[in-house]
Amino acid sequence: MTQTHDSIRAVLWQDGRLQLLDQRILPQQQTYLSYDDPIAVAQAIRDMVVRGAPAIGVTAAYGVVLAARRRFRAAGAAWREHIKEDMARLAAARPTAVNLFWALERMESRMAGLGSDDPEPALLAEARAIHEEDIAANYRMGELGAALIEGEGGAVLTHCNTGSLATGGYGTALGVIRSAFAAGRISHVYADETRPWLQGARLTAWELVQDHIPVTLLADGAAAHLMKLGKVSWVIVGSDRIAANGDVANKIGTYSAAVNARYHGVKFMVVAPASTVDMSLANGDLIPIESRSADEVLSLAGQRVAAQGAEGWNPAFDVTPAGLIDAIVTERGVVLNPTPEKMAAMMKNG
Ligand code: MRU
Repeated sequence: MTQTHDSIRAVLWQDGRLQLLDQRILPQQQTYLSYDDPIAVAQAIRDMVVRGAPAIGVTAAYGVVLAARRRFRAAGAAWREHIKEDMARLAAARPTAVNLFWALERMESRMAGLGSDDPEPALLAEARAIHEEDIAANYRMGELGAALIEGEGGAVLTHCNTGSLATGGYGTALGVIRSAFAAGRISHVYADETRPWLQGARLTAWELVQDHIPVTLLADGAAAHLMKLGKVSWVIVGSDRIAANGDVANKIGTYSAAVNARYHGVKFMVVAPASTVDMSLANGDLIPIESRSADEVLSLAGQRVAAQGAEGWNPAFDVTPAGLIDAIVTERGVVLNPTPEKMAAMMKNG
């Protein structure tokens, strides 16, 4: 299945190598970096060459393929022992997006069923399946989420980047936005610039411009004013991890957008595949929150902008309580006003 407004792929497997569109230098440069070393793949995830929860999971799965190739060539049947080190390196790359651990566990399960032959073909098939299933899930979520938006030609606000760059392709929240635009339900997108890494300004705006969807950027702090003026009917965001009670971890600033949305009567939608739901965590307080370098706050494009001597605080994610969320959309269904019971029922589907 293909969709309109869907022209970008950030993670590719080509000629036996992993290709990653370098998101650190977008939109100024569009450069794919090529990988055949799993340790370099782990570093690429850590350094945000590739980012966004589902894209991190897909990348890690291909990283396991590269690890199996190297370990099998070096150690033959003993590859299983040696690959554990590579899996641990991949798992340590970033802590919040549960899709990373979900993908590694799925690759591990596939490994368990393998004999003593070359593991690469079977593991590559599994990684490709993870990738393709993610795109299919995004298309499904696009339909489900777009159907929640009433009326025609309205506008929505999004935060961070949740599009083709952040997933196997098409996107979660941005997939809903693409589908809603194609269906005429919205005609305009407002995007928070998303300090400090500027995923909104650099990545979301670039994706939407590429796909001819009108986008207006705003400073994160302008979102409350936008809502007060009645410019948007929904805030639509993705997630890095959703707890069993429907609490949602996502890019820092999401919580603030949710508080503002509730105050102004704007609906709040979270769009994420079932692989982002972590039913092992009872609530969002248990989600590990990545803390990144203060330099990302104190500097811009490598140039110090803050007063010398000032310190910086840079939590990369925050947790929005389930009570502020109107809808969680996964490929398994829509949960309105999430509760632990509704989340459990949704996860049992499919
Ligand atoms: O630090 P990032 O850029 O990896 O953070 C990404 C986000 O917070 C996204 O909103 C989330 O991963 C969902 S992407 C479909």
